[in-house]
Amino acid sequence: MSSLRDAFDALRPEELWRSERIKWRLFGEGVLPAWVADMDFPVAPPIQETLRALIERNDLGYHHVPLSPLLRETLVDRMATRFDWHVEPRRVFGLVNVVQGLDASVLVHSRPGEGVILQTPIYPPFLAAVTKSGRRIDESPLVPGPTRHEIDFDQLRATIRPDTRVFLFCNPHNPSGRVFERTELEALGELAIEHDLILVSDEIHSDLTYPGHTHIPMASLGPEIAERTVTLTSATKAFNLAGLPCAFAIFGGDRAQQPFRELPPHLLGHCGILGNAATIQAWTQGQPWLDEVLAYLLENRDRMVEFFAKRLPDVRVLAPEATYLAWLDCRALELGSDPFEFFLEHARVALSRGGDFGTPGEGFARLNFATSSAILAEILERMAVALEGRDRSK
Ligand SMILES: Cc1ncc(COP(=O)(O)O)c(C=O)c1O
Repeated sequence: MSSLRDAFDALRPEELWRSERIKWRLFGEGVLPAWVADMDFPVAPPIQETLRALIERNDLGYHHVPLSPLLRETLVDRMATRFDWHVEPRRVFGLVNVVQGLDASVLVHSRPGEGVILQTPIYPPFLAAVTKSGRRIDESPLVPGPTRHEIDFDQLRATIRPDTRVFLFCNPHNPSGRVFERTELEALGELAIEHDLILVSDEIHSDLTYPGHTHIPMASLGPEIAERTVTLTSATKAFNLAGLPCAFAIFGGDRAQQPFRELPPHLLGHCGILGNAATIQAWTQGQPWLDEVLAYLLENRDRMVEFFAKRLPDVRVLAPEATYLAWLDCRALELGSDPFEFFLEHARVALSRGGDFGTPGEGFARLNFATSSAILAEILERMAVALEGRDRSK
C-alpha cells in the first residue's frame, strides 16, 4: 500500500474538527461535513515542500503582476499535455478565483436585463452571477436519464431569445458530475455561433474525471468556437488548494477577450506568491498524487453508489463521471423540499442544500465523498440509521 493511501486512510474527524477549514468548522464538532467542495486529503508533497520553503525563507512579498512568465508557460504546457489543447500564451489572464471569472464574464459580455443560459441544477455562484447583476436566467434544466443527466436540446433552443448573450457552461458539470461528450460540445458550440453567444466554460473540475470519460475543453473544438469562448480554470479544485487562490481566464480569441482588456487593470486581482508556487508545483510535480487521489475517489464513488442501491434504494444517485460530488435525489424519501435539514438534524451529516442549485434541486442534496473511506462509511451509515429511525417511528 502506498504512503499516500495510508495518509488518506488515516484521516481522523477529531483532528479535522480542529482545523481552520470552513468545511469542518461551520457545523462544529460532532457533525460530519460533506458539503463544500474541498477534499480532506493532505496536499501533494511537492506542493507542501515548496510552500514550506517559501515560508521558511520569508518569501512572502509581491510577485509578478498579473501573472509570472513561468506560471503562464506552465499552464500552456499543462493544457497541451493533459487535454491536447493549445492555448496561446497571450490569451491567458490571471484571476484570483474562478467565481470571479464567472461574475466578470457576465458583466462584460451582457447588459442588465439580457439573458444568460444556465443548465440547472447548477453550482450556486452561477445563479448569483446572473441574478445579482440584474441579468435574466434563461434556464435549461439537465434531464436525469437512466445513467446520466442529458441536455434537452429542443428545450435549450426554445430558451434562447434574441437578447440572450452568454452561456455559462460548466464542464464537468457540478452537481450532476457529467463530462460532456464531443458531440454534445459541438452542438452547443454550433448553437453559440448561430445565436452569437459568448460561451463561458468553467472547467475547474476537468482534472477529476473517472475512467471512461475524457474532458474536452470547449475552446479546443476549433477556431470559430474558441473565438467566442472564455475558459475558466485553476489547479485549486483537483489539487485541494482552495485556500491559495490562483485562477485563469483563457480566451480563445479577440471576441471573448476584448472587453476584459478594457477593464481597469487591477480590478480582477491576481494570485500571490504562494498561489503561484502551489499551482506551478501542482501542474508540474503533482500528477502522481492526483492519480492516487483519483483511484481513491473512484473506490469511494463506487462504494457510495452501491451503499445507496442496497441500503437506501429510495435515494436515487447516478455515478458521477467526474468530480467528487454526488447529486442525491431524495424526493422519494418525502423529507420535504429540504433533505439537508433532515440529515443535519437526525444524522449529524452536513450535505449541500439542493435548492441552492436552482428550483430543479428541491428535494435533492449534494454529497462530497472526498474523504477517507472510513469517514465516508460513517457518513453513509449515519444517513441510513437516521432514515431507519424515522421509518420506525412513523
Ligand atoms: C464549478 C465550480 N466553479 C468554481 C468553483 C469555485 O472556484 P474558485 O474557488 O476558484 O472560485 C467551484 C467550487 O466548488 C465549482 O464547483
